[in-house]
Amino acid sequence: MNTSKKISTCFVSALFEKYSNTESIVVVIDVLRATSVISIAFHYGVKEIIPVQSLEEAKNYKSKENFIVAAERNAMPVDGFDYGNSPFHYMNEKVQNKTLVLTTTNGTKALEIAKNHKTITASFVNFDAVVDYLILQNKDVILLCSGWKGFFNLEDSIFAGKLAEKLMNNAFQNSNDSTLAAIELFHSSEADLFSFLSNSSHRKRLKSLNMEEDTKFCLNPTFQSNIIPILKDGKLIKA
Ligand code: MLT
Repeated sequence: MNTSKKISTCFVSALFEKYSNTESIVVVIDVLRATSVISIAFHYGVKEIIPVQSLEEAKNYKSKENFIVAAERNAMPVDGFDYGNSPFHYMNEKVQNKTLVLTTTNGTKALEIAKNHKTITASFVNFDAVVDYLILQNKDVILLCSGWKGFFNLEDSIFAGKLAEKLMNNAFQNSNDSTLAAIELFHSSEADLFSFLSNSSHRKRLKSLNMEEDTKFCLNPTFQSNIIPILKDGKLIKA
């Protein structure tokens, strides 16, 4: 009998162990901006992405041929690396067939937390492809919101609500109140997400750094990707 698959939503990565179940697929969400950047980099031809946890680890890759090494801390690019975490850095042919090493404040940490599960990344760039993939996989799903330094954030939670509602319209069933809360947040924001986030911490942080265009693009990308980045042996590859 095909029992309905369940959806759980984890708002902050510190709580992930309460949701952890290695039979589930984990969807890592960091729409501002790590998982958006991951989707865009693959869309523009990156071969694979190695998420790393420290700047020191990232530096070890800098001399390797056909590697791009990118680092972001506190939303700012880190000096001495090829790129930061702006989606616009990756929209060029220079990334084609390269291996991207990426370390960010939140998104790559969430990938590390989820590494013992079947894990994919999602953003507004590959939303439709993620929905189709999860329906086909027919497994329980844990939506892992990266948040900000261990705290809840609105944008990842709203994205989780949008994804959860779509899955529940396709025979998935909710299994916790955080999913219901995420869906309500999505309903409250869907008319104009950018404006809804006007007072959110990360939109204000990015605005203060003159990165509003990054926010606008990641929330409403001008193209869609059908690529599902999946974690395998410590690397993100195309599913
Ligand atoms: C990240 O993407 O990990 C962080 O949320 C910060 C950012 O790049 O804006």
